[in-house]
Amino acid sequence: MKVLVTEEKIREAVERLGKKISEDFKDEEHLLIIPILKGAFVFAADLIREINRDVEVEFVRSSSYVNTESSGKVKTSIYISTDVKNKTIILVEDIVETGITLENLTNILLSSGAKDVRICALLDKPMKRKVEIDVDYIGIEIPDSFVVGYGLDYNNKYRNLKDICILDEESK
Ligand code: IMP
Ligand code: MG
Repeated sequence: MKVLVTEEKIREAVERLGKKISEDFKDEEHLLIIPILKGAFVFAADLIREINRDVEVEFVRSSSYVNTESSGKVKTSIYISTDVKNKTIILVEDIVETGITLENLTNILLSSGAKDVRICALLDKPMKRKVEIDVDYIGIEIPDSFVVGYGLDYNNKYRNLKDICILDEESK
């Protein structure tokens, strides 16, 4: 498969995002980081270690994908065992495409009493957006191709690749 973003470029982006988040939230009392499973688990594991302040971590799961097409229907399960009331939350996502997943989760968290919900995504495909959302922290903009690796999958495969690669026909 063709490498689109190397391990080194990923590391640079993660360091930059972690540094910015550390600065922006240094005076915030509670900072709750919520990675969206499963895709964001690798990114989130690296990102939290670049944030030099106390953070709490909880996970949510959301999936709208069948093969390489977004089904447009987002299944959201929230397993958050902590109270989100009055907490500042950063939703951590692997990649933003239509924006539907993040819009959906943001609304759920705000209606549960969160003080503020910000979004941090490693990758962005801005040309695929269907709903308007503010992505506060973006690692790398990519063209409209289906990518795998560093947590991102094709039917649950390739999450373990160190680089982010463009899925080719032979790998499907
Ligand atoms: P959205 O709701 O359309 O923004 O969908 C974003 C979700 O779709 C991400 O969390 C990924 O799980 C998945 N996704 C979008 N593009 C890709 C891709 O190129 N590779 C793997 N998963 C993707
Ligand atoms: Mg996802």
